[in-house]
Amino acid sequence: MEQKVKHSKKNLVIFPKSKEICLMAKSSEETEKIGEIIAGWIKKHNINCLIFTGPFGSGKTTIIKGIIRKLTGKSNITSPSFTIVNQYSTNKISIFHFDFYRIKNQEELESFGFSEYIEKGILLIEWPEAAIKKVPQNSLKISMEFSGLKQRKITISPP
Ligand SMILES: Nc1ncnc2c1ncn2[C@@H]1O[C@H](COP(=O)(O)OP(=O)(O)O)[C@@H](O)[C@H]1O
Ligand SMILES: [Mg+2]
Repeated sequence: MEQKVKHSKKNLVIFPKSKEICLMAKSSEETEKIGEIIAGWIKKHNINCLIFTGPFGSGKTTIIKGIIRKLTGKSNITSPSFTIVNQYSTNKISIFHFDFYRIKNQEELESFGFSEYIEKGILLIEWPEAAIKKVPQNSLKISMEFSGLKQRKITISPP
C-alpha cells in the first residue's frame, strides 16, 4: 500500500509498516533534499546499491546530487550519461554514479566491466534496466514520476 509521508526528517522512519514510501517534491531543491534524507538511510542501514528508474527529466540525476553532496560534501556533480560512470571519493567512502542508458545488453555491460565495481563502494544507478540481472539483490529502488511540470512523485521501495 502506498503511504504519503511529509518530508520532514522526524517523520521518516524507514518503511514504517508499509512496503514503500511515496514522497512529493515540488521543486528540484526539494528533490535534492529528499536525496539528502536518503543519504542518511544509506549510512544508517549500510545500503550499498540504489537503482533509479523514471523517464528523462524526471529527476534521477537531481536526487542523486542530493545523495552525493550529503555523503561526500562534493557539489560539482554531473550526469554520467556520456562517461557511463562518475566516481566521488573521500577518505571514508567511494560512490560510483552510473548511467546505463546507452548500455543495451549483457555483453555491453560486461565489456564495460560493471561487476568489478560491486563491493568497491556505494553504487547509484540510473537506467538500471540493462544491468538488472547483475545489480545486487538488496538494492533500494527509487522510482521517479512526473506529476505536473515542477512536481515529482518519488517512490522508494525496499529490495
Ligand atoms: N521537483 C523536481 N525534481 C527534480 N527535477 C525537477 C523538479 N522540478 C523541475 N525539475 C527539473 O527537471 C530536470 C530533471 O533533470 P534530471 O535530474 O537530469 O533528470 P533525469 O536524470 O531523470 O533525466 C532538471 O532540469 C530539474 O531542474
Ligand atoms: Mg540523469
